[in-house]
Amino acid sequence: MSDIRHLIRTSDFSTQEIITLFHNALDYKQLLMSKTPTHQPLKHKNVITIFFENSTRTLSSFELAVKNLGGDILRLDVSRSSTSKGETISDTAANLNAMNPDAIIIRHRNAGAGYYLSAHVNCPIINGGDGAHSHPTQALLDLLTIIEHFGLEELQTLKNADTIAPFAPLDSIKGKKIAIVGDVVNSRVANSNIELLTRFGMEVILVAPPHFLPQTSLRTSDNLKAIAQEVDVIMSLRTQTERHDQVIYGSLKDYASRFCVTKEIVGDNPCIILHPGPVHRNIDIDDEVLKDSRSKVLEQVTNGVCVRMAALDFLIA
Ligand code: CP
Repeated sequence: MSDIRHLIRTSDFSTQEIITLFHNALDYKQLLMSKTPTHQPLKHKNVITIFFENSTRTLSSFELAVKNLGGDILRLDVSRSSTSKGETISDTAANLNAMNPDAIIIRHRNAGAGYYLSAHVNCPIINGGDGAHSHPTQALLDLLTIIEHFGLEELQTLKNADTIAPFAPLDSIKGKKIAIVGDVVNSRVANSNIELLTRFGMEVILVAPPHFLPQTSLRTSDNLKAIAQEVDVIMSLRTQTERHDQVIYGSLKDYASRFCVTKEIVGDNPCIILHPGPVHRNIDIDDEVLKDSRSKVLEQVTNGVCVRMAALDFLIA
């Protein structure tokens, strides 16, 4: 069996590996914040990014992460690549692989694209988002942001632990409630978070109109106002109109009237508010809440660079 590790789903990493990853990510964060150069574990390493869907955060933070670690990045411009001339994705992968990269980071509209690619290469494949299936680094950065708020001290105490419980390793996170709000059925971010956050013992409540809910054994609701009062975290999602077969809402304003996270909805709850981005302002979350200190949306972006540095270091170096 090959000992190459891939990151395609959050379940590719054990709980112990995730705790170590978070320690390393926080060390990187401290260095980045103080503008101190990090060590360069990716020196002389080449990483290819190949994004078949648009991205601001994932692509740029992976590229920054590679550069921060001393590596070289090659961004394949998909619109100018031979995939637009009919080359199959496996042939593209085999050709990229022939250039001996140290990792390939891919985003693709098809669920499972990362798995497919991993059969054609001999370097780690990192999934930057595949269809509605999975977005592992997003969920990892989301969990780190939650832990930073509720369980940082406890995380530090695990730094030298020999063994970590595979389920709910942090008491400060176990039992915390999170509402994942919006277009859950089309969301790879929701899928990855559901696996990861339940593994860390959080109670996940899906809040959406019925046509945005997957079949699930999790608790569900269509009453955001009521649920918002009982949770520790609200994670709003973008309505993924590009993945809808048919127009579901005449206007996103109809949706927003029930599912936008507003100051009135959040009230005095000392929860934190997350969103993976891109945010539809005043549809997903209103302007006032985005400015509120409980909103950690930009902290998530900062954590994205550090988590991806730690993941690259783990998988490549
Ligand atoms: N969160 C996220 O995946 O954002 P991008 O689409 O900008 O990468």
